Amino acid sequence: MSSFDPRRVRIDTPVFSRVINDRPIVYLDSASSTLPPRPVIEAMDRYYSGHHANVHRGVYQTANEATDIYEGTRLDVGRFIGAPDPRHEIVFTKNTTESFNLLARSWGAANLQAGDVVLVTEMEHHANIVPWFQLQAERGIEVRFVPVGDDFRLDLTDLDRLLAGVKLFSFTAMSNVLGTRNPVAELVGAAHAHGALAAVDAAQSVGHQPTDVRGWDADFVCFSAHKMLGPTGLGIFWTRADLLEAMPPFLGGGGMIADVRTDGFVPAHGPTRFEAGTPPIAETAGLRTAVRYLTGLGLDEVSRYEHELTRQALDLLASSVDDRVRVIGPADTVDRGGVFSLDVEGVHPHDVAQVLDQYGVCVRPGHHCAKPLMRRFGLAATARASLGPYSLRSDLDVLVEALNAAIKLFA
Ligand code: ALA
Repeated sequence: MSSFDPRRVRIDTPVFSRVINDRPIVYLDSASSTLPPRPVIEAMDRYYSGHHANVHRGVYQTANEATDIYEGTRLDVGRFIGAPDPRHEIVFTKNTTESFNLLARSWGAANLQAGDVVLVTEMEHHANIVPWFQLQAERGIEVRFVPVGDDFRLDLTDLDRLLAGVKLFSFTAMSNVLGTRNPVAELVGAAHAHGALAAVDAAQSVGHQPTDVRGWDADFVCFSAHKMLGPTGLGIFWTRADLLEAMPPFLGGGGMIADVRTDGFVPAHGPTRFEAGTPPIAETAGLRTAVRYLTGLGLDEVSRYEHELTRQALDLLASSVDDRVRVIGPADTVDRGGVFSLDVEGVHPHDVAQVLDQYGVCVRPGHHCAKPLMRRFGLAATARASLGPYSLRSDLDVLVEALNAAIKLFA
């Protein structure tokens, strides 16, 4: 039985006690980073207060406890996304961006030669574009893009032609700008039908809907702890154990080796070969609790709730704000998450965000690390509001009030 109640999550989340410009904080920037609930913060505090030691190195009790927390999180986060064999499949990185760099620098470097094609989409975050362009510059791979249609969804008309000769199709489960949710299993199936592997950017979806890497039949999945109520500084890279074992190390150093001699080294087996140096240990304690917390809420319930709040937001933005405010994203709730990129005619997004801040409203202005997508729609930037499991209808009402004030001031 789910205990999901957004007001409860809000009470659990300390940042909501902040007052900004004499108003209660209205946090609408969860696409950028979600707010951790108190149990996540306390788990990290408990770790540092009672267990801190380096992992995989000591034989004393607290070192073993730290290693148990770290390795236990690997299992828990793997189960959370439906990984069949988490111990051999989950790699801890710094963030989603590093996970994609690991994919490009390790799998890509070992498997892609001049002329090989990586297919991405026009709605990708730079994390899933720039590493491929780096490989293009270094070894002459081709980077191809699936276009985005005027309806803010992938234009899959020519997918078969685009997939011809592709080695990897790497795409986002949900756009951080448009809110568009992509048909992940269908896209993975199309990639496989063309003999390509499929990588999924789950950063924007993992904290808002259930994730099942087996159901997707994906080959690689990348996401971050801080987008799922966990701490910053910790990313996750998932791949099948057979693919992982065939990937060469990315970062070299301590902890990732089986042996080092004066004439070379032998990498360790399994995920640790990609975890050189002291890893983010306290952060895994936080992530472990975030996974339990989200599981306790029930991702199905969270998804249903955010879907309804998204409907309310789209209705409000269509009916209660000036016509000069345009939502850059699907106008209906079908296959769409709670991300609202706003273009206010004649007002720079930074000015919009600054007025919103006067009302305590936190949104992100900018290109959202998705410049090809911005160019596709002839924009330099938007002001983006986004939901989390603690968002309430009252947040939307303040957003509308503040947007109307911004328009009155500038337009
Ligand atoms: N990728 C994060 C965002 O979209 C930072 O804001």
